[in-house]
Amino acid sequence: MAKMYINPNVRLGKINKEIYGNFSEHLGRCIYEGLYVGENSDIPNKNGMRTDVVEALKEMKLPVLRWPGGCFADEYHWEDGIGPKETRKKLINTHWGGVLEDNSFGTHEFMELCDQIGCETYINGNVGSGTVREMSEWVEYMTFEGVSPQADRRKANGHEAAYTVNYFGVGNENWGCGGNMTPEFYANLYRQYQTYIRQYNPEKKIYKIACGANAADYHWTDKVMEIAHPFMDGISLHYYTVPGEWSHKGGALGFDEKKWYLTLHKTCFMEELLDNNIAIMDKYDPKGRIGLIVDEWGTWYDVEEGTNPGFLYQQNSIRDALVAGINLNIFNKHCKRVKMANIAQLINVLQSVILTDGAKMIKTPTYFVFKMYADHQDAELVSSCIDTEMVGLEDSNMVKNLYESCSVKDGKLTITLTNLSLDKSYDIDAVLTEAEAKAICGEIVTGAMDAHNTFDAPDQVKTEEFKGFEKTATGLKISIPAKSVVKVTVQL
Ligand code: AHR
Repeated sequence: MAKMYINPNVRLGKINKEIYGNFSEHLGRCIYEGLYVGENSDIPNKNGMRTDVVEALKEMKLPVLRWPGGCFADEYHWEDGIGPKETRKKLINTHWGGVLEDNSFGTHEFMELCDQIGCETYINGNVGSGTVREMSEWVEYMTFEGVSPQADRRKANGHEAAYTVNYFGVGNENWGCGGNMTPEFYANLYRQYQTYIRQYNPEKKIYKIACGANAADYHWTDKVMEIAHPFMDGISLHYYTVPGEWSHKGGALGFDEKKWYLTLHKTCFMEELLDNNIAIMDKYDPKGRIGLIVDEWGTWYDVEEGTNPGFLYQQNSIRDALVAGINLNIFNKHCKRVKMANIAQLINVLQSVILTDGAKMIKTPTYFVFKMYADHQDAELVSSCIDTEMVGLEDSNMVKNLYESCSVKDGKLTITLTNLSLDKSYDIDAVLTEAEAKAICGEIVTGAMDAHNTFDAPDQVKTEEFKGFEKTATGLKISIPAKSVVKVTVQL
């Protein structure tokens, strides 16, 4: 029996609700069709936003949404997306699929969407092909309350009150699609651009995020931190789970056992990445003021056959549920530094929580993991550890069998566990130190390794009641099935 120790009285920091954030880019069918169908659509909507999708995101407790990119952010000129829709600039989305972008979804629409969902706003600005003035005026347009040229324009466009911008990213992937810059060059640009992101409302300070590294490019993190750390609140990190070469990633479905373990093995690398990036951050910011913002993560497979390769549409299975569960447990455990994370992407792109087909909508296995883990949002991480063993098929793809994290909020202990093994279930003897379990209940997401929901069979995978626990003299025993993500809630 695997031993697990939990001490609900040893508090290790707040798990920011923003760790459960999402990302939405002008890419494929994420914004258009996925979120926004326009006021005149037959699909039920409120001011153009799909009602079914907004309701599902509210239920999932989406805390924060990043927009408009991604690579699109460094090509986006915000003035194209304001004013009467008929006169907005129409252009080709050269980065993603070469389709027409009519700019009918712009700043006002994004703010309206976040308002309907009840989530915070994370805007990503354009450094790659935009000017300092353009970025500065966008911030003025959105957040200045008094009389000013840009605030007056916003009011003339129908929104009297200033908007709230909670987070602002100064460029995206500036080591790549955002301008192919060196870290030194970017870091100096960051210092310059951020100067003009004015804090017009001291009560609602904008949290400024510098562009961080591509996965294990520690040199980038080091240089950007060295040159620009006094001027940032956060620095980003992008890491995708790509189970193969970029040219042969493999499909979202129909994979074998080897791919299962390879995918999870690549996912678990997140732990090492966080530790190494945090070590660099500690060097320049020993007090831990600056947040690590993992604003792009998730699985990236070959696009579904027959779809536009530039749309990055993929299905989502139990394997993705595991990827989500593992990453979220890792983020929770690093909550001292990881202040926000945004899975890529919200709808119809990469590891989505929702897929749509015209008027139809389905929730993916990843959706159910996010919803199940929502109890961790703004809870206190507590001390926990668990015995593990390595599982897998080949030396190069072995993974730890179990990942866990535990938090406490309002006298309730939330334990989330992932079992990565394809065939073994485990009995866990969870010892509660200095605490007693009163009532216990549980939930589970599990199924065949590529079980998934389709528009014809939308309920193949969903959260089910979990009964694999019992109270013991020292805490509780949990029996976790193979390939599953489990939540156990203990009333203390
Ligand atoms: O999420 C898809 C793309 O991946 C984003 O546009 C970019 O930032 C990253 O390379």
